[in-house]
Amino acid sequence: MSRLPPQCCVSRWRASAGARESEGPCESALVGSGPLLYLPLMIDEIKQAEHAAVARLAAVDDVDDLASIENDLVGKRSELGTLKSRLGGLDEEGRRAAGQALNEATRRVTAAIEERRAEVAARARAERIAAERLDLTEVLTRPQRGHLHLVTQTHMHLEDVFVGLGFTVSEGPEVETDWNNFTALNMPPEHPARSMWDTMFVDLGEPGSTVLRTHTSPVQIRVMQTQPPPIYTIMPGRVFRRDTADATHMPVFHQIEGLVIDRGITFGDLSGTIEEFTRAYFGRDFNARLRPSYFPFTEPSAEYDIQRPDGSWLELGGCGVVHPNVLRNCGLDPEEWSGFAFGFGTDRLPLARHGIDDLREMFTNDIRFLEQF
Ligand code: PHE
Repeated sequence: MSRLPPQCCVSRWRASAGARESEGPCESALVGSGPLLYLPLMIDEIKQAEHAAVARLAAVDDVDDLASIENDLVGKRSELGTLKSRLGGLDEEGRRAAGQALNEATRRVTAAIEERRAEVAARARAERIAAERLDLTEVLTRPQRGHLHLVTQTHMHLEDVFVGLGFTVSEGPEVETDWNNFTALNMPPEHPARSMWDTMFVDLGEPGSTVLRTHTSPVQIRVMQTQPPPIYTIMPGRVFRRDTADATHMPVFHQIEGLVIDRGITFGDLSGTIEEFTRAYFGRDFNARLRPSYFPFTEPSAEYDIQRPDGSWLELGGCGVVHPNVLRNCGLDPEEWSGFAFGFGTDRLPLARHGIDDLREMFTNDIRFLEQF
């Protein structure tokens, strides 16, 4: 610490409360009657107070703490403030020197406070930003997105194929009248062919008058009764039978019905349409066949079979030329109109296409199975 020359560092000190006794190398230079404040000591005290204030600042790392000690560092009751109140104990020259030193020290401490405040605020801000940071590149595990069930996919695929062939899509209710499900389809009550369908009756209206539809064929009746020919439509939907579930049967299953009514329609149109459909759905490598069969509502009738990859044949549904009685039941003249119809089990279609060997797999809802399709 550099010392001021003795002649200008001696000050007269009139004792005041809290002032400290003068001490130091120039004690001999003290003059006057009362105790004197020694300027170099005062300067030392100012420096110490400044250092102490700066040291305290360094320990503060919170903006609020800083605000609360600011008064302690430069306020009236701070060390620097107290020193200021003691300036009066110095002579005029000493007062000027010490006053200047005090002002400078106070200015530096004030500047240090501002600097620290900026530092602490910047750090707090950086910490807050770090804590609130969103990593937009982070790969989150999302809930797995599902997809349409194989049966729904099949229906959509078939609808696409038939819409491409010029067909419309029609729908009917799952709870049907006996008339639509049987009688209008050339199966009057007591007709033995009714036993081909293990029917579930609904307790509604006359006993036996309401059924869970056993096939989608009743939608043919609804369409023919409500829209004039020519008709080119498919009718997808859910059907119900009192069947026991096994590898190729379910009591609730799906069908897609087809109906064409126009002038001069023959079995040739039916077989051409089915061939086209087989190619579109299964591809060229699959073999399909029409096998003579019997349905009350078509004459002639056939079963539609597809050959599985293992060589075995799987029956997919029936088809045939619409029976004249069915046309008559719907108010159409069989001399003017003719047509064909088909009905395929749409749960069995993907069975054959994907080589699934048990129909029940599709409905037990095992995700490991379903997600393959
Ligand atoms: N409805 C018949 C069945 O469920 C299939 C079929 C439809 C047959 C249309 C001929 C014509 O077995």
